[in-house]
Amino acid sequence: MSDRRRFLQTAACLPLLAHPWTANALSTKRPMRVREIWSSGEMLPVMGLGTADTFNVAPSDAAAMAPLAQVLGTLLDSGGTLIDTAPSYGQAEAVTGALLARAPDPRPRVFLATKIGTEGHESAMRQIQNSQRALKSDKLDLIQVHNLIDTRNQLALLRELKQQGLTRYIGITHYTDYAHDELTDLVEREKPDFLQVNLSVGARNAEKRLLPACLANGVAVLINRPFQDGALFRGVKGRALPDLAAEIGCGSWAQLFLKFIISHPAVTAVIPATSKPANMADNILAGFGPLPNPAQRERIAALLD
Ligand SMILES: NC(=O)c1ccc[n+]([C@@H]2O[C@H](COP(=O)([O-])OP(=O)(O)OC[C@H]3O[C@@H](n4cnc5c(N)ncnc54)[C@H](OP(=O)(O)O)[C@@H]3O)[C@@H](O)[C@H]2O)c1
Repeated sequence: MSDRRRFLQTAACLPLLAHPWTANALSTKRPMRVREIWSSGEMLPVMGLGTADTFNVAPSDAAAMAPLAQVLGTLLDSGGTLIDTAPSYGQAEAVTGALLARAPDPRPRVFLATKIGTEGHESAMRQIQNSQRALKSDKLDLIQVHNLIDTRNQLALLRELKQQGLTRYIGITHYTDYAHDELTDLVEREKPDFLQVNLSVGARNAEKRLLPACLANGVAVLINRPFQDGALFRGVKGRALPDLAAEIGCGSWAQLFLKFIISHPAVTAVIPATSKPANMADNILAGFGPLPNPAQRERIAALLD
């Protein structure tokens, strides 16, 4: 069996069977919810995929790669396109590139987001070239300054690279509340295409100033650490889903946590990470169906008090 055929069978077919909710959502053929990237007008599906830790396996390890092919296949089958990775995530870029290379022709439309996390232009260019090689893609959709490292310098470089067509969008990222004030200043002053930052039902600091600043300045927002790296699940272990879940079409705690995020008006997309196809199929359903209104968002947050 050819690799391409195997990709189709493992990445495209199995995930649909892996989770009954996905099969139900997709059987309606409804498109996934999309949000506008303000700087271009392009629409981006709200559910993406993070790759930190989960995609850091050896590309030659077939047993480790098989479930990740299904994770990626579930995203793409469901209409998702956004994959977030970084040079500092070990083998994650190489794994992403290898899995995409196995996809059938034409390559599925993906929105590849990576990062630079170093000082100086020379070092940044080396990282970008390595990312291009690992991802097997000359053109990248989004390059972000990782964790505010050498931000002013690297944003200037990224603006040049965007003009040259090497990347379509530029952004800045961080993952902790203590960076939010600096990020707010940068959003207002630099107006990058994207901000990537942490927000979850248990960590709402970004809602105070940072997300309103993004809305006011036309900066698209990607949300990282939506499950606080899995800690949110430990907080609700053994608890039955509240009645509220059915009101907003959620069949799991993961979907409640993700719909809480997606329902914020400043949020463009969210990038949960998972190594498990069934969890990806679970997460993807948050991209479909009703969203909580502001009062329902507060009821979700109160569940964790
Ligand atoms: N500074 C930055 O730029 C920055 C910082 C942090 C993160 N990020 C990006 O954001 C992404 C997401 O953040 P994160 O990786 O820190 O953590 P996260 O997405 O908040 O949580 C990931 C954890 O949740 C578990 N999980 C996922 N779906 C689940 C489900 N449906 N049910 C139960 N458990 C589930 C995963 O375990 P399983 O594998 O068992 O499913 C994993 O342990 C990263 O991968 C990265 O791309 C960027």
